Amino acid sequence: MWPVLIFSDSSERGASLADVIGALDHRICAEHTTDLGSLAHLARCRDPFLALVSTDNTPLALRAVGALRREQRDLAIVTEVSADHPLESLQALAVGASEYLKRPVAPWEWQQRARLLLELHRRQHALTSTLKRQCRLASRRPEHAVLTEALARADMLHDEVTGNHNRRTGRIAGIIATSLGLPQQQCRNIAFGAALHDIGKIGIPDQVLHKPSRYDDDDRKVMRAHPRIGYEILKDGGTEVLQLGAEIALTHHERYDGSGYPGGLAGDAIPLAGRITAVADVFDAITDGRHYRQSITPEQGYVHLRQYRGTSFDPDCVDALGTCLAEAARAKGE
Ligand SMILES: [Fe+2]
Ligand SMILES: [Fe+2]
Repeated sequence: MWPVLIFSDSSERGASLADVIGALDHRICAEHTTDLGSLAHLARCRDPFLALVSTDNTPLALRAVGALRREQRDLAIVTEVSADHPLESLQALAVGASEYLKRPVAPWEWQQRARLLLELHRRQHALTSTLKRQCRLASRRPEHAVLTEALARADMLHDEVTGNHNRRTGRIAGIIATSLGLPQQQCRNIAFGAALHDIGKIGIPDQVLHKPSRYDDDDRKVMRAHPRIGYEILKDGGTEVLQLGAEIALTHHERYDGSGYPGGLAGDAIPLAGRITAVADVFDAITDGRHYRQSITPEQGYVHLRQYRGTSFDPDCVDALGTCLAEAARAKGE
């Protein structure tokens, strides 16, 4: 309910004003009083958004306005003043009125003024609710979400192509993890961690990272440092997700048959999150269009990956991608 307080030295006048204002909206609860003591008490207890002071006795009106203002700093207060004494308007504002109306004040004038203030109140109410909701949501967001997003943004600033690739790979890795039937929280963590898998490219010199021609052996040696650089960046992150991110960064170029780098790990010696990300990483890269002259469709990309099922990639992870191919393809476009 939206409480409105009315002060008048005439009970009938107060009651009829309460009716006029109450007719504006069914949520308005208008109360009137002829007593200054009750007025202050009501202002304290009811927390009104609007108070109207309607009396021909200006000194009494000014005292009522003062009493209301002392109780409520943010309250909208409208009072009547004499049309013949301009000083009264200034006095009303000085003691705390928000606005004044000059006598005689017709019921429609009260109504019109109240309607405007009600609209303002509604908007303020909606804005406050939205802000509170957003603050609640922000406070519920896990710390690692904020951290990983900050790191991903840093990555984007450094190199937009890698940054976008990282984000898509994160989404696809999360989808593959879900398709493998892993617990929801683990899938979310893998998605966050995989979104940082190439963060180590921050440490690769621009002349290599952005080289327009093909990489030579020296370039490849430099590029192959990015898993370890990424691991070094993330390993002391202090949260479970950043630890997982470090593990993914280090192992996403390991290959199932042991032919990968930097550790030459094979099979289950490669952490599952690394095996999942390896599939997501290559799937995103080969269907990106920048790596091939002709763009490869997700279906063609999957057929290509299947050729390395059990050699480069964990067969279960490749199969899992096959069962969620449409979703993974959609995740690329998001
Ligand atoms: Fe990589
Ligand atoms: Fe990558």
